[in-house]
Amino acid sequence: MKRIRKAVFPVAGLGTRFLPATKAMPKEMLTVVDRPLIQHVVDEARQAGIEHFIFVTGRNKGVIEDHFDYQFELDSTLDQRGKAKEQAALEADQPKAGEASFTRQQRPLGLGHAVWCAREIVGDEPFAVLLPDVLVKAKRSCLAQMIDAYNAAGTACNIIAVEETPMENISSYGVVGIGKQHAKSFEITAMVEKPKREAAPSNLSITGRYILQPEIFKILENQQTGAGGEIQLTDAMIRLAKDQPFHGVKFEGQSYDCGSKIGFLTANVAYALDRPDLAPAFRAELKKLLG
Ligand code: UTP
Repeated sequence: MKRIRKAVFPVAGLGTRFLPATKAMPKEMLTVVDRPLIQHVVDEARQAGIEHFIFVTGRNKGVIEDHFDYQFELDSTLDQRGKAKEQAALEADQPKAGEASFTRQQRPLGLGHAVWCAREIVGDEPFAVLLPDVLVKAKRSCLAQMIDAYNAAGTACNIIAVEETPMENISSYGVVGIGKQHAKSFEITAMVEKPKREAAPSNLSITGRYILQPEIFKILENQQTGAGGEIQLTDAMIRLAKDQPFHGVKFEGQSYDCGSKIGFLTANVAYALDRPDLAPAFRAELKKLLG
């Protein structure tokens, strides 16, 4: 079984739910406390042992590439000012030479299409996909938990992170059916995109983290547009599930849908309350605000 070494970060969407913030700035650069969303997700992948970071970018996304690049002027200014701690922190965040690749999705035709754009860089090996607008706050990185389950399953399967969702909201998500239990995962018997509440096969929704086998690319190549006129990743996974096993992993941790305003604001509060340097003062301010 091949190791999971590469991760794809689709960052070419328009981020229309966050206009006007995203008019000139990518959604993925919105900050949760003092780190851009994309940095949080790259941190998660790195903690899971990912060695190659593949960004599928688009128009107006150049700043993401800059963010992961060495900034000579900044580094020398920090050096002159004796800010060694800040310098070291920036260096630790930055992918080493050759660890990051950038490819372009010229038109935002959908998540499935964005993943397909990474096919030449991924090549013929299983890979992870992390959506940067979903943050998972967890003791052990969510992707690391998925890779644990992948290794425990012992077969070249596909893995989807899932979480319990209140049934009244279930029709906003992709939902999976639950089959045979394994040590760290369960077999997925069905995948339904945005089902009616009565038709939902369970209360487990798909969370924005995937481990996929490279055969998904062949399917995406011929994929028709689906819901919303976009080339959907879920449609391709449903097709691949006819030939290959899919497992679900109920990860330990809390997810935040930072593509929605409430999720984004909540993530900021949760991550700030978790920071020893900020929490006491921030908690006091929150108390005042809430009366
Ligand atoms: P979303 O649908 O949440 O992002 O896609 P969006 O389209 O940018 O946002 P809204 O709905 O208009 O506010 C999830 C992830 O997939 C990427 C997005 O950048 C986001 O990180 N994506 C989506 C692409 O890379 N290409 C696409 O064609 C669509």
